[in-house]
Amino acid sequence: MSSPIRVVVTGAAGQIAYSLLYQIAKGDVFGADQPVILHLLDIPPMMEVLGGVVMEIIDLALPLVTEIVPTADPTVAFKDVEAAFLVGAMPRQQGMERKDLLSANVKIFKVQGEALDKYAKKTVKVLVVGNPANTNALVCSRYAPSIPRENFTAMTRLDQNRGRAQIAERLKVNVGQVKNVIIWGNHSATQVPDANSATVDLGSGPVPVTGALKNDEWLKGEFITTVQKRGAAVIAARKMSSAVSAAKAAGDHMHDIWHGTAPGQFVSMGVLSDGSYGAPKDVVFSFPVTIENKEWKIVQGLQVADYHKPLLEATGKELLEEKAEAIEVCEH
Ligand code: NAD
Ligand code: LMR
Repeated sequence: MSSPIRVVVTGAAGQIAYSLLYQIAKGDVFGADQPVILHLLDIPPMMEVLGGVVMEIIDLALPLVTEIVPTADPTVAFKDVEAAFLVGAMPRQQGMERKDLLSANVKIFKVQGEALDKYAKKTVKVLVVGNPANTNALVCSRYAPSIPRENFTAMTRLDQNRGRAQIAERLKVNVGQVKNVIIWGNHSATQVPDANSATVDLGSGPVPVTGALKNDEWLKGEFITTVQKRGAAVIAARKMSSAVSAAKAAGDHMHDIWHGTAPGQFVSMGVLSDGSYGAPKDVVFSFPVTIENKEWKIVQGLQVADYHKPLLEATGKELLEEKAEAIEVCEH
C-alpha cells in the first residue's frame, strides 16, 4: 500500500459529490492500492448535511479511506492536497445557459485559487467541474500563480462520454467499442463534438466511425446538437442538472490524469490553450490530449473538417468573451 494522499472535493454536500465520493473512496480514481484522506469542503449552512455525507462514507466501510476532514474553511480544505475536484458552485436552472452562472460562480474560483496557491501541494492536479467550467478553471489558475497553469483542467469528459454513447447507440454496438471522440472548445452549447477521428472496434480492430456510419449527415447535424444540448435536456427532465453522469466523468478525467491515457487513445479536457488548431491562446479550451506522467499534451496533426472550422471559431470567441467578463467580475 502507498501512503495516503489528500484529496479535496468542494461542494461535498451537493449532488455530484454524493456519487463522486463513492468512486474515489473505492479506488476507482486513484487506484485500488492508493489510500485517501478525504477533505470535504462546503459552505457553513451545509455543515449538517455534510455531516450526513460523512456518516455515509464511514458506513461504506471502505478500507482505502483513512481519514475524513469535513470543513467550511478553505485553509483546512486545501491544506497539502494533491488532487482537487472543484465541484462546489451554483448549477443552472431550466432556461439558463451555463455562462449565466458566471457572475455568481467565478468569484468562488478566485478565492479557491488563492487558497490552493497558499495551502495545496505545488504538484496538485485541479479539475474544475463547477460551471462555467472552462472559465472558472482559467480564473482559478490565474489566482494560484505558484502552481503550474497546466495543473488546472476543466471537465468536458461528460460531453465526450455523451458523444461516445450516442455513436454506440447509432451503430448498435457497446459503448466500450467506441474511442477517440473529440470535444473542442467550451463546455457550453457552442462546444464542438467531433467524431471524425473516432474509431469503433467491430471485432477485428478499430476502424473509423465515419466509415462505419453510412449516414454521414447525422454526424454533421443531429450528433452535434444532441451532445451540445444534452445537459439542458437532462435539466428539463430531472429539474436538476446531471449528477451521476457528471460524477462518473469527473472520476474518469482524474483517473486519466493520474494513470495516463492508453496507447493509441486520447481524451478531451479543457486545458490552457497554446493556440493549437487556431484556438485563441490563454483561454481554457477543450482539446484532445494524451497523458503521461500526469502531464497532458495536445494531440497534433488531426484533420478538422471544413464544416467544423466556423464552429471552432465560435466556441473560441465565446471563451474570449467569458474571459473578459470574468476578469471584470473578479477585479471589481
Ligand atoms: P449542487 O447544488 O447539488 O451542489 C453544489 C454544492 O456546492 C452545494 O452543496 C453548495 O452548498 C456548494 N457550494 C456552493 N458554494 C461553495 C463554495 N464557495 N465552496 C464550497 N462549496 C460550495 O450542484 P451540483 O449538481 O453538484 O453541481 C455543481 C456544479 O457542477 C454546478 O455548477 C453545475 O453546473 C456543474 N456541473 C458541471 C458539469 C460539467 O460537465 N463540467 C456537469 C454537471 C454539473
Ligand atoms: C451538464 O452538462 O450536464 C452540466 O454542465 C450541467 C448543465 O448545466 O448542463
